[in-house]
Amino acid sequence: MTAIHDGTDRDPDAWRADMIRALRDQNAITSDSVAAAFAAVPRHRFAPEAPLEAVYDLHRIVPVKKDENGLNVSVMSAAHLQGVMLEQADVTPGMNVLEIGSGGVNAAYLQELVGSDGEVTTVDIDRDIVDRARRCLDEAGYRQVKTVLADGERGFPDGAPFDRIIVTAAAWDIPPSWIDGLTEKGSLVVPLTVCGTTRSIAFDRDGAGLLSRSYRLAHFVPMQGGGAAEERKVLLREGVVVQTDDMRVPLNAQALNRALDAPRLVRWSGAAWDLPDELDLYLTLNLPQAVRLHAAKDVIEKGLVAPAVQFGVPALVSEDSLAYRTRRDNEDTGGFESGVIAHGPQAEALADQYATLLRRWAEHHRRRGAATFRYLPGPAPSPLPQDAVLRRHGIVTASWT
Ligand SMILES: C[S@@+](CC[C@H](N)C(=O)[O-])C[C@H]1O[C@@H](n2cnc3c(N)ncnc32)[C@H](O)[C@@H]1O
Repeated sequence: MTAIHDGTDRDPDAWRADMIRALRDQNAITSDSVAAAFAAVPRHRFAPEAPLEAVYDLHRIVPVKKDENGLNVSVMSAAHLQGVMLEQADVTPGMNVLEIGSGGVNAAYLQELVGSDGEVTTVDIDRDIVDRARRCLDEAGYRQVKTVLADGERGFPDGAPFDRIIVTAAAWDIPPSWIDGLTEKGSLVVPLTVCGTTRSIAFDRDGAGLLSRSYRLAHFVPMQGGGAAEERKVLLREGVVVQTDDMRVPLNAQALNRALDAPRLVRWSGAAWDLPDELDLYLTLNLPQAVRLHAAKDVIEKGLVAPAVQFGVPALVSEDSLAYRTRRDNEDTGGFESGVIAHGPQAEALADQYATLLRRWAEHHRRRGAATFRYLPGPAPSPLPQDAVLRRHGIVTASWT
């Protein structure tokens, strides 16, 4: 076979073999079954318009459809994330699997994993995507995969119960149809977003709810339809945005913007800074009034906010003040020390609260995978526990060991 995509003579099989080797080296693929699925599926046939270099890159997405603002609404997910999620899903031959969010290639991997005795159904809310996935699956020889046009919020009761449900768009909540659609021992792998940060969480059934088995950092296009996120994004000034999905958090744009012009209070925690994704998760779920603070590069370059903000950082807000994490070199250890930058009339109090959490995390939870998530469906208890995240269909809680 010759490469038709990028004008070079390199065979897609060679690109694929390199990709699988690298995915194994990076521990995205850890099992022979997932490696075999990746080897069997001609990934480039699911993105015929993209160069092989992009299709077989570990971390690159391939855009498939954008909205009127130019934002991606459908992409072929990066191979690394697909590998991670398929490992989390632990799919074995004969299983009945539902994928929510189609593209074709991941459904083909799933079909390889369930084998000829298993079934794969992939559901997408967008007709263009379903049609495209159907075409690619047929052309690549995966006619047995079922493609369905539907809002995944409702699951796919006609095909239930499923041994596995794998969601490939960022979900803000877990609707009853996903839990009810699982077999007794079924699992759900879902990229769950809390306050602008997403983890792919592998959940097992636990009574009426769900209990996490593993989680990994993930990035996905947002879920559309009935399950779309309820969140607020507020522009404080050009290039500075705060976002939250907790309706109880006060977001006074004028007062917070004024706070940014107040002198910066910097407080060093004395604690180690590392594993930023794990630290951010802990802060997001433990700060009493958490938002995510984003700033554009030019705002950072002007020195208004610290570089940590560029990719979004958990911040603590009050009516008129805000605080977020930063770091500095720790010459004694060779690593970094965490700290807080705070602005506004309540800067001292917010910095103290924030720094306490930085120290608590470093002392007790500074390792990968230290969190356990629970999803409890149904009406939220009153009063809502401090650590609970309120959703439409239930609550999410996270505990740290
Ligand atoms: C990242 S893409 C899916 C990638 C795909 N699984 C693959 O093989 O690479 C996310 C998809 O989720 C779909 N989506 C978003 N909201 C949805 C919903 N409520 N129900 C079903 N599909 C949805 C989008 O249309 C988009 O095609």
